[in-house]
Amino acid sequence: MSSGINSSTMLMGLLGHPVGHSRSPFIHNSLSEHFGKDMVYLCFDVEPDELAYAVRGGLALGVKGFNVTVPHKQDVRLFLSGEDGDAKLVGAVNTLKRTEDGWYGYNTDLYGFMSALRSDGIDLKGKNVVVLGAGGASRAIICAVLKSSARKLVIFNRTYEKAKALADEFGDAYKDTEITAFATDAALIAAMENDGSGWIAVNTTSLGMYPKTGEKLVNDKKFYELCDTGIDIIFNPARTAFMEAIEAGKEGNHAYNGLKMLVYQGVRSYEIWNDVSVPDEVVKDIYMKMKDM
Ligand code: ATR
Repeated sequence: MSSGINSSTMLMGLLGHPVGHSRSPFIHNSLSEHFGKDMVYLCFDVEPDELAYAVRGGLALGVKGFNVTVPHKQDVRLFLSGEDGDAKLVGAVNTLKRTEDGWYGYNTDLYGFMSALRSDGIDLKGKNVVVLGAGGASRAIICAVLKSSARKLVIFNRTYEKAKALADEFGDAYKDTEITAFATDAALIAAMENDGSGWIAVNTTSLGMYPKTGEKLVNDKKFYELCDTGIDIIFNPARTAFMEAIEAGKEGNHAYNGLKMLVYQGVRSYEIWNDVSVPDEVVKDIYMKMKDM
């Protein structure tokens, strides 16, 4: 945005509902500033029954690319000319790129989570992993766990049927990792105890997210004693009740929030739209600024 908004300024944006607290504009507008691109990124609050108009309207208006967030990541797939491998794998699209044939869909959440893990030195290979939650956000995390060749994956959710359905769906596609779902805290903890400590837990539920801070899915302290590492994909608040419980679980435990994942998924979308490569120092600089906001 170096020259300010003018008649040739290009538009990128976010389609979601709600979008009021989105931090994506900061990521993309910072990147446009870095690359000296005449481009702005705005948020659009789109009701579910207006999604078709927003997506087709964006094409007509010459929008260069959209990010797509809750609750549209699945429904938006109806309006695409094609999808990349990660979008097909995860079953959700969070990035649209304009092509001659219409919108092409990508999933950069999977890349974002894998990049955040790498940046924090967390390797899931051969590890035992618990994913809390079985909603839309859990799918990219489950794919990352399986792609990383974890030893075991346990999916735990308030609604057991959803966890079981995911375990069945992904269990058919990945044979290296043993995938199970449990219906109660007690059954989950008993299964974890069988493998000893050293579990990595990832919270993908919305529990603990602003403004309902303080909540978490599992309240039994034993669960947190069995974990070494906890990753919450929530980034607001920066320290969630889940992260606090992980850190209190035992000496030396580490907890991470979802801000790095957010930054990396945004950066990847920007790279896709603009055919550029963002240097890691730039990613880290944006992350550090957002951490202090
Ligand atoms: P998203 O697509 O962002 O993942 P979602 O599909 O609504 O959102 O899923 C939210 C996740 O948080 C789900 O795992 C949900 O559990 P259910 O499948 O049982 O609904 C979980 N979740 C949300 N509110 C919860 C609550 N009060 N107690 C327990 N789990 C909750």
